Amino acid sequence: MSSSLYERLGGMEAITAVIDDFRDRVAADTRINQKFARTDLGRLKKMLVDQVCEATGGPCRYTGRSMKEAHAGMGVTDGEFAALVGDLVATLDRFKVPKAEQNEILGVLGPLKPEIVEVESDATGTPLPAGYRPAPALVS
Ligand code: HEM
Repeated sequence: MSSSLYERLGGMEAITAVIDDFRDRVAADTRINQKFARTDLGRLKKMLVDQVCEATGGPCRYTGRSMKEAHAGMGVTDGEFAALVGDLVATLDRFKVPKAEQNEILGVLGPLKPEIVEVESDATGTPLPAGYRPAPALVS
């Protein structure tokens, strides 16, 4: 039997390192970083690690908002979705994740697109609408 994608990626330590690199890339990417202007980045990192860990068969449970709820009113375009996926692929390349595993990851994320994208447009760098309500910061 083949091992879970979680195990093949290298478990929790590897996933945490990947999310750190990805977050730094997104923070520096002017095509999408305006959307994160009011986000609690500590919470976002924990939520992304838990989501990836759970979705790849690891021992975590994602406790955040649904993809629809988390991105509602954010005005994300098709172009911005593609930019974020491009940043993720750059991170996965940097960590030398084989293309087969990359395709498995993208196969999990691709179907979420209709829940995240609200604006049919190739535009990038669009501002976060004033009415967007960020998730509350994590209480730790
Ligand atoms: C497949 C693609 C994506 C996945 C899997 C994803 C996943 C997530 C997750 C798990 C959260 C945390 C939700 C929570 O805290 O309850 C989140 C929040 C967020 N996402 Fe995404 N996301 C994706 C695409 C995008 C795109 C394309 C953008 C913008 C360009 C974006 C911008 C944000 C922002 C700004 C937040 C923070 C929201 C807040 O402040 O509460 N996401 N996303």
